[in-house]
Amino acid sequence: MAQALSLNSDLIDNIFRYAKPLGHHQESRNLNLGFGFLYYGLVRALRPMHVLVIGSGFGFSVVCLALGIKDNEEGRLSFVDPSYSLLRNGPFKTVGGIGKWDNPVRVREHFEQFGVAEIVHHYKQTSEEFFPSYRVSKLPPIDVAFVDGNHSLTSVRHDFLEVFAHCRKNSYIFLHDTHLPIRELVHHSGVNRWLKILKKEPELFEIINFPFDSGVALIRVKARRPWKCECR
Ligand SMILES: C[S@@+](CC[C@H](N)C(=O)[O-])C[C@H]1O[C@@H](n2cnc3c(N)ncnc32)[C@H](O)[C@@H]1O
Repeated sequence: MAQALSLNSDLIDNIFRYAKPLGHHQESRNLNLGFGFLYYGLVRALRPMHVLVIGSGFGFSVVCLALGIKDNEEGRLSFVDPSYSLLRNGPFKTVGGIGKWDNPVRVREHFEQFGVAEIVHHYKQTSEEFFPSYRVSKLPPIDVAFVDGNHSLTSVRHDFLEVFAHCRKNSYIFLHDTHLPIRELVHHSGVNRWLKILKKEPELFEIINFPFDSGVALIRVKARRPWKCECR
């Protein structure tokens, strides 16, 4: 007999309580995970062996993606987050961070309550620290990435280009927070500006944006060739 699906009403209720989605077009009233269903569904459909998540306040994206891996019965998820908190590190380091990933035992317990502790490997590092040791760590290429760390244009560009350097043709990259018009206006966020740069490269990237709530974009890497990004 086929194994049971992870996503049931109790688990979804727990996701709302403890993985606290913010800006994913979700609605707790009718257990609608919003974009969370996209994250889970994409992993089920594509069966990635390696998913990378950069940044998460309470682990919503991590949990939705990891549940897809769990139900596929194969794959791993690397989660990179230095555990910044707004109070400790200030608004230019994080907006939604609360130091949730300080303690490795607590991190494990947090993901255990969703049944994905064996799948999620947390790296308590910034993405800038993580990528230089990627090959030494013998991590496989990235099949699916979720970029939601520091939202400055410089950091989003860095994270995207590093993912691009470590992925395959037909890898998929989520960019969260493409729809924060006021923060974009005052240059506190640059995700949408980065998306506009990617749109100028239709031979390299296929893009669909969902400009609802905080917005998320999904990017398919059409080709893996050196890209001289004229965007410094
Ligand atoms: C809450 S999430 C997503 C940001 C939020 N949606 C927003 O509107 O800005 C932010 C997380 O990214 C993490 N983060 C910040 N800078 C990072 C970096 N350079 N590399 C990886 N994670 C980072 C923080 O520790 C925090 O947990």
